[in-house]
Amino acid sequence: MAIQRVKSKWAKTKVLLLSEPLRERIPVTKRWHIPQLAAMLEQHGMVYVKPDQGTFGLGVVRVEKLPDGRYTYQSGTHPQHFPSFDKMAASLQKRIGSRQYLIQQGIPLLSYDGLRFDIRVMVQCNPKQEWETTGIIGRLSHPKKIVTNYHSGGVPMAFDKLMEPHLTQPQVDSYKMWLAEIGTSVARQLQTRYPRLKELGIDIAIDESFRPWILEVNTLPDPYIFRKLDDKTMFRRIYRYCLAYDRRMK
Ligand SMILES: Nc1ncnc2c1ncn2[C@@H]1O[C@H](COP(=O)(O)OP(=O)(O)OP(=O)(O)O)[C@@H](O)[C@H]1O
Ligand SMILES: [Mg+2]
Repeated sequence: MAIQRVKSKWAKTKVLLLSEPLRERIPVTKRWHIPQLAAMLEQHGMVYVKPDQGTFGLGVVRVEKLPDGRYTYQSGTHPQHFPSFDKMAASLQKRIGSRQYLIQQGIPLLSYDGLRFDIRVMVQCNPKQEWETTGIIGRLSHPKKIVTNYHSGGVPMAFDKLMEPHLTQPQVDSYKMWLAEIGTSVARQLQTRYPRLKELGIDIAIDESFRPWILEVNTLPDPYIFRKLDDKTMFRRIYRYCLAYDRRMK
């Protein structure tokens, strides 16, 4: 039977929220609704507004309430400023139209060389039919963008290199083990609802106090970003597992 894919971020988030240990790793996520946007900006100061079924970072918007009371949002490379919440929300609504959108608590991402980065954790069903974390990679954002996706100019980089300025090597090693465990927990939890999943790409944000947050889970993850690393060890295993569960490779 074909490998299962689930497009709706909202549907996947709801399944993850059923797990007590995972719940605290998930940023507050709600459906698009202007009063909800106002409340979340009051509470978090910065939020991400994104399509329920988006890919490649397309249509993702970062919205902020500034200390001077103005509002700003950014989708591409240029932030737009607004004198009031209502003007900002009306402009966003026009952009969104009737599409399904989500609002998510914004996580202030850790930086490397002044650029924000997030993490992609690859989890696969291994030949023993167990969930295994097979890859952990960082994605450094393009200097002017609010997303880190490879298709939006993000640069794949080794996790150890990105964490080097922040943690000692033994700390980095145990952090990786932690991320690997979060990866397999996410897979087991999603499989309770979606039994035919075989591979997942989990987008994880690390905030400035080193807390990991699950931004979203992709059910059709791109294995090839792992080939961009000089060290091909992770990629080779990822590729081998892909072939073993009969994934069609591009
Ligand atoms: N809540 C958030 N806080 C901080 N950054 C975020 C948040 N949500 C998204 N981002 C940034 O935007 C990027 C794109 O968001 P997301 O992964 O949710 O959508 P997508 O990339 O369009 O979906 P897909 O990964 O399926 O292509 C993330 O990788 C991350 O860099
Ligand atoms: Mg993503």
